Amino acid sequence: MEKERLKELAAEKAVEEVRSGMILGLGTGSTIYYALLKLGQMVKVGLDIIGIPTSEQTSQIAEEQGIRLSTVMENPVIDLTIDGADEVDPSLNLIKGLGGALVREKIIAHASNRLVIVADESKIVDYLGAKVPLPVEVVQFGWESTQMALNQICQRSVLRQVDDQTFRSDNGNFILDCYFDQISDPKQIEIRINGIPGVVDNGLFVGRADRVIFGAADGIQTQDR
Ligand code: 5RP
Repeated sequence: MEKERLKELAAEKAVEEVRSGMILGLGTGSTIYYALLKLGQMVKVGLDIIGIPTSEQTSQIAEEQGIRLSTVMENPVIDLTIDGADEVDPSLNLIKGLGGALVREKIIAHASNRLVIVADESKIVDYLGAKVPLPVEVVQFGWESTQMALNQICQRSVLRQVDDQTFRSDNGNFILDCYFDQISDPKQIEIRINGIPGVVDNGLFVGRADRVIFGAADGIQTQDR
């Protein structure tokens, strides 16, 4: 089965948990796109939800789909958030943020009573850091110094560029993509990185996902924490 179809199947399975009256966190990325399409269809036939987007990109897509939106400031408690991931380890710890929305995603995940992650099976890893770098959002001021400190923890880091421009998050910050051989103690690395002045947050989500739904060639796989 094509990867896009696997993403769509996982996203549609997650949307089955959505009920009218929910405050729903809306993640970011190409897998969540399918959830937004499905939610849009359901809203048109009467589903009554308020969506809390994790990025400007998601906000725009959700609006196009007719999903009513609000903010985490107005709704500090979220019933359920559906989001994607870049890597998932056997304990359902995650790397997120290749799409650049990790800070808002983590704030919204923290405000949520339940976090459901959707992904295709290519995101499954034995150890975090095996396939993708760990994104770290840093303030622009003094980012070179922040990078030097980060490089004491990871092997190397790269200032994210998109279309020959330095990438800026929705918060106006830079992202340093940090390469590891493997992250064997994600909680410890999350804490150490966030202790560096200039770091806003990093893409390690440890013990946060309640359920991960994988789209796999032989069907949907659901894993609960
Ligand atoms: C954005 C994210 C995304 O959820 C993550 O990158 C997965 O995206 P996709 O579904 O496109 O693979 O963390 O910051």
